[in-house]
Amino acid sequence: MPVPMLELAPQNSAVKAKILEGLSTIIDKSSFVLGENVKGLETELAEYSGAKYAVGMSSGTDALLVALMALDIKAGDEVIIPSFTFFATGGVVARTGATPVFIDLDPVSFNATAALVEAAITPRTKAIMPVHLFGLLADMPGIMAVAQKHGIPVIEDACQSLGAKGWGKSAGQFGDMTGCSFYPTKNLGAFGDAGLTFIRDDEKIAAKVRRMRVHGMEPVYVHHEVGMNGRMDEFQALVLRAKLPMLEGWHEGRRKHAHWYFDRLTAITPDEMVLPSETVPNGRHIYNQFTVRVKQGKRDALQAHLKNLGIGCAVYYPISLHEQPCFAYLGYKTGQLAETELASKEVLSLPVYPEMTEAMLEEVAKGLLGFFGK
Ligand SMILES: Cc1ncc(COP(=O)(O)O)c(C=O)c1O
Repeated sequence: MPVPMLELAPQNSAVKAKILEGLSTIIDKSSFVLGENVKGLETELAEYSGAKYAVGMSSGTDALLVALMALDIKAGDEVIIPSFTFFATGGVVARTGATPVFIDLDPVSFNATAALVEAAITPRTKAIMPVHLFGLLADMPGIMAVAQKHGIPVIEDACQSLGAKGWGKSAGQFGDMTGCSFYPTKNLGAFGDAGLTFIRDDEKIAAKVRRMRVHGMEPVYVHHEVGMNGRMDEFQALVLRAKLPMLEGWHEGRRKHAHWYFDRLTAITPDEMVLPSETVPNGRHIYNQFTVRVKQGKRDALQAHLKNLGIGCAVYYPISLHEQPCFAYLGYKTGQLAETELASKEVLSLPVYPEMTEAMLEEVAKGLLGFFGK
């Protein structure tokens, strides 16, 4: 039985009727951008995350970019980010003209640590942007303590982690601002591109983010800053609001499947393959990805084996940011971020979406166990 890496149709068919009905209302009203659905979504997601303010954006990339712009990050500034992340984390820093300062990772959580962040701080550091990779929070108490000691703002990249929890809080409640993505593959996915910026508690910054989203304009045709067009459209907000009541169930479905793998794959030893760790105290990994580490240089062979069996899997990410051609000008050398480079050779993400059946999970497990001769 083939098992795709991700299948969106079953989830979307569950909300189709509600969305079609809402779309009909949008067409009747013909208000397509930043209308009542966007406002409603902002209110609902601020409540969901516990951040005070939420601003709907056109994508996760823009949600992070607008946060940097609201802090006036510019050429000559440095922003500390992990090298092991989706490209957008680095892209937005470079887009402001600032210099991305790439740091290594904790090999168990795949995330940045407070010590790595602190070691990268210089007098030019103007922001720290930890990423909650794959659905697991980075060490936010530790990173916030370092940031506060040095008086540096923090932007959480929660593009993969809306709903992730730890230390009694949720993604979006730690940093000054937080960027989220609703790209269709996320746990809460739109029918196209969409994102959202949380502002933890600063009303002035929230007003600035709102203004920057519409070319720095307030009131109409008066432009205070050169902002961007980062507006969210009504249709995406409608889809996200229709799905939001199901999100907790989907997170729990992913968690259940992750734990099913933990129980079923005990015959594979850690020197063969390492399963993801839920390292956050009182936390909740929301498994946007279920990412294993394949040891002994066997990752590519396992990927080929699973593909032959019709089992979807993917490498996130094969080339980390400090090794990307567009960042060669920064002068990083191979070997400089050793744990990151090793992770990019060992990681493999497996299907974990909530609609998987036990037979599908068993198919993946059998493929893995068979590869290791178990
Ligand atoms: C870690 C991370 N940062 C930023 C982004 C950018 O989000 P978007 O694709 O919505 O622009 C993503 C999305 O894939 C992501 O995974």
